[in-house]
Amino acid sequence: MTPDPGLFETIHTLRAMRRLKPDPVPDAVIQKILAAGTCAPSGQNLQRWAFLVVTDPAGKRFFGERYDHWMRDRFGSLLSHVNDPTPDGRSMKAAMHLSEHLHEAPVLLFCCGKRDWPFVVPAESRVGLAPPSYGSIYPCVQNILLACRGLGLGASLTTMHQMFEPEMHEFFGIPLTHGVVAVIPIGYPQGNFGPVRRAPVETKTHFNRWGQGKPGLAAPTL
Ligand SMILES: Cc1cc2nc3c(=O)[nH]c(=O)nc-3n(C[C@H](O)[C@H](O)[C@H](O)COP(=O)(O)O)c2cc1C
Repeated sequence: MTPDPGLFETIHTLRAMRRLKPDPVPDAVIQKILAAGTCAPSGQNLQRWAFLVVTDPAGKRFFGERYDHWMRDRFGSLLSHVNDPTPDGRSMKAAMHLSEHLHEAPVLLFCCGKRDWPFVVPAESRVGLAPPSYGSIYPCVQNILLACRGLGLGASLTTMHQMFEPEMHEFFGIPLTHGVVAVIPIGYPQGNFGPVRRAPVETKTHFNRWGQGKPGLAAPTL
């Protein structure tokens, strides 16, 4: 595998890389990854992203303990499948490996988004905290994942922090003006990159009218 794969090889091999080496990731590399993130589009080009780069062992331990607790709580019965010799079993095993070793990841990248009510929510319904503008942060998150892959770094998108986000605000001093959209553990991969496992695109594609197929393009499964 070349260290700088082409765009389509990068896209087609962008798997969650959950087994990471402890080797540190240089700040210049993190900066390059974040710069790629900020090339993403955002609504009205408001660029409402903000990043918290966590390398401090105490911060990683705080986060890792809570993440692992909630992974076990939420996945419950599925955990009995971690040794199944199936793709889902292997995926669950990798997810639990990450969960147990999260505090050892060289970098935890918190991708935050400024809170903002979507246009569709009427003024009278705007009660409490607005959600972060997810749609404007996820393209940035995807660019970050692509940049990591392009630089030969392992990364994965995680969201289990939603179970304990208020504690994160307090511990890390994140203001309530922002929400944490995704947490990306980053490091050099222990394993190899390989093709992603996805349903054929035709099964997800409709032509002209929902449910309608077209040979060679659309064969939707309903
Ligand atoms: C919105 C979202 C939330 C996710 N949350 C988690 C998570 O909390 N923990 C985790 O290990 N993976 C998480 N993932 C990664 C997916 O489980 C993973 O991408 C998917 O199973 C496909 O595997 P692959 O990326 O290796 O092909 C999340 C992905 C998305 C898009």
